Amino acid sequence: MKQLTISKIKEGTVIDHINAGKALLVLKILGIHSNSTETVSMAMNVPSKKMGKKDIVKVEGKFINEEQLNKIALIAPNATINLIKDYEIQKKFKVVLPEFIEGIIKCPNRNCISNSDEPITSKFRVWFDKNVVAQCYYCRRKVKEISEYIY
Ligand SMILES: Nc1ncnc2c1ncn2[C@@H]1O[C@H](COP(=O)(O)OP(=O)(O)OP(=O)(O)O)[C@@H](O)[C@H]1O
Ligand SMILES: [Mg+2]
Ligand SMILES: [Zn+2]
Repeated sequence: MKQLTISKIKEGTVIDHINAGKALLVLKILGIHSNSTETVSMAMNVPSKKMGKKDIVKVEGKFINEEQLNKIALIAPNATINLIKDYEIQKKFKVVLPEFIEGIIKCPNRNCISNSDEPITSKFRVWFDKNVVAQCYYCRRKVKEISEYIY
């Protein structure tokens, strides 16, 4: 098989099995933008046995927190997190879809109380039904394209 070699990272995080096309959003969730100084490599739409096509993100010197993990699970529910130390995988785990999220996505319903002047944080129940679905706790509106509503 022909392979493209990307240099290994010494310490950091590899996010594998990202739904094809979502790598740029994963970078955004990690706070990586055009002025960032981290060493980052990314592959989009590469062939995958499990997924057909997938994206991969590799970030040197960065470890992700709980909120970032939850956000990644919402847009890439199959993602695998590989923590790298001394060039080796020290820990590998799959993201877990949270059942309930607060303050992470904005309700698409403009009339929802979570979008009013009241100091009310958005709350959604989350489940998987072919795709990730989130339902507003207040107005029951379902969000299917979650990536468009992440704060
Ligand atoms: N030091 C490293 N620097 C950069 N990427 C790495 C490093 N070590 C492993 N990886 C990447 O981490 C991912 C998982 O590696 P692994 O060797 O576990 O592959 P795998 O057996 O295909 O795993 P999986 O079953 O999760 O698909 C691959 O994308 C691999 O390229
Ligand atoms: Mg693999
Ligand atoms: Zn709502």
